[in-house]
Amino acid sequence: MNRFPDDFIWGTATSSYQIEGAADLDGKGPSIWDAFSSIPGKTHNGETGAIACDHYHKFKEDIRLMKEMGVKAYRFSIAWARIFPTGKDSINEEGIRFYSDLIDELIQADIVPWVTLYHWDLPLALQLEDDGWLGEKMADYFAAYADVCFERFGDRVKHWITLNEPWVVAILGYGQGVFAPGRISTSEPYLAGHQLILAHAKAVHVYREKYSHQQGQIGITNNCDWREPLTDSEQDKEAAERSLQFFLAWFTDPIYKGDYPELMKQRLGEKLPKFSSAEQTMVKGTSDFFGLNHYTTMYAAHNDGNSKEQNVYGNGGISEDQDVDLSLDPDWNLTLMNWAVVPWGCKKMLEWINKRYDQPDIYITENGCAYADELIDGTVDDQERLDFYKGYLEACQQAIDGGVKLKGYFAWSFMDNFEWASGYDKRFGLHYVDFKTLKRTPKKSALWLQKVIKSNSVDV
Ligand code: GAL
Repeated sequence: MNRFPDDFIWGTATSSYQIEGAADLDGKGPSIWDAFSSIPGKTHNGETGAIACDHYHKFKEDIRLMKEMGVKAYRFSIAWARIFPTGKDSINEEGIRFYSDLIDELIQADIVPWVTLYHWDLPLALQLEDDGWLGEKMADYFAAYADVCFERFGDRVKHWITLNEPWVVAILGYGQGVFAPGRISTSEPYLAGHQLILAHAKAVHVYREKYSHQQGQIGITNNCDWREPLTDSEQDKEAAERSLQFFLAWFTDPIYKGDYPELMKQRLGEKLPKFSSAEQTMVKGTSDFFGLNHYTTMYAAHNDGNSKEQNVYGNGGISEDQDVDLSLDPDWNLTLMNWAVVPWGCKKMLEWINKRYDQPDIYITENGCAYADELIDGTVDDQERLDFYKGYLEACQQAIDGGVKLKGYFAWSFMDNFEWASGYDKRFGLHYVDFKTLKRTPKKSALWLQKVIKSNSVDV
């Protein structure tokens, strides 16, 4: 039987805005997602996270369900605007209390908390006063907020993730404008990305300098889809590599190597901000582990300068900067997000990271799929999701067998939730949520994963 390593971390993940609800309760300030989702036309059916799964009130029930599934770790995020309603200055003790209770409840259930400090719900005040991630004071504000979280929760939280997917913030929030704050630009993503990297690094320094006695780990989670060369031609191979660098190495090269990839610097010139040498030193080495969110794969081909703008969710960034055409294989199955199910792409992605960054400890902090699940007679037969997980976990196991130091896997998501601009139809959960009654029901995939976790093997 193919077993995962004995100390493999099995977890599940969520984020604050997608599940908590209680958007303006107990002193929480508004976030950019509260504002963005209230603008007509920005989200599917005008849906918002105002109530979402009401996890704010139901967290004990949710932790009970996690325990039943046997998960060892739970990755959730803190809503910055619950701790600092305006992003800075005055602390909201009721927000502290909510997360403190959540953490205590997890520890009682023997589930290890993995905490993300920023999963896209920026306090609205910082957007208005500082232009959000374009503002040069953001790194200081983020570090001050992180400091309070380390101080208040760090006695119990030993696994921190600074930012979730800065690529999404930069490209979808400041490039395509399909996510909050909804800005459209071909230059701002690089400016926002730069501030995000500096903010991450500053927070890590606060943690290492003030809280080393807490003996925890801190890192960042980035997302990347695999890019497979469309043909064997050198040009397409280079295009695929270029696409990966514009997607992932944009953020991970500064952190692991101290600067942006050379080919981005060459292609972007003045559009790409520069790190001073003090900043390079500050940024380099600021991740104790490699957090990866991985969902899908696309073919990449060289485009000779007549790039057709592929302004779709799932694109690799600003296409005119890359000269890469992306496409899908007609034989690949698609999820409800139109993302292709390609388990071998996950293996190749892990191998690419392993090689480029010299064998880091990797955690897959998200992987999963959306389907149009239905609750029939009290059960959800999500065989497609079960197959998806099986395929991707087998790919993970092959990568581990080949020497990749993959240490853990967090399924996205614990339950159906507010899928950003796509609203509530896109169900990613292991648990079905009826959004009228808010009742949770484990899906077939959750029951299967329970067995996988118990036996530490996908052959169940
Ligand atoms: C990730 C994101 C999650 C979730 C998931 C599925 O990019 O971190 O919040 O929405 O995608 O789309």
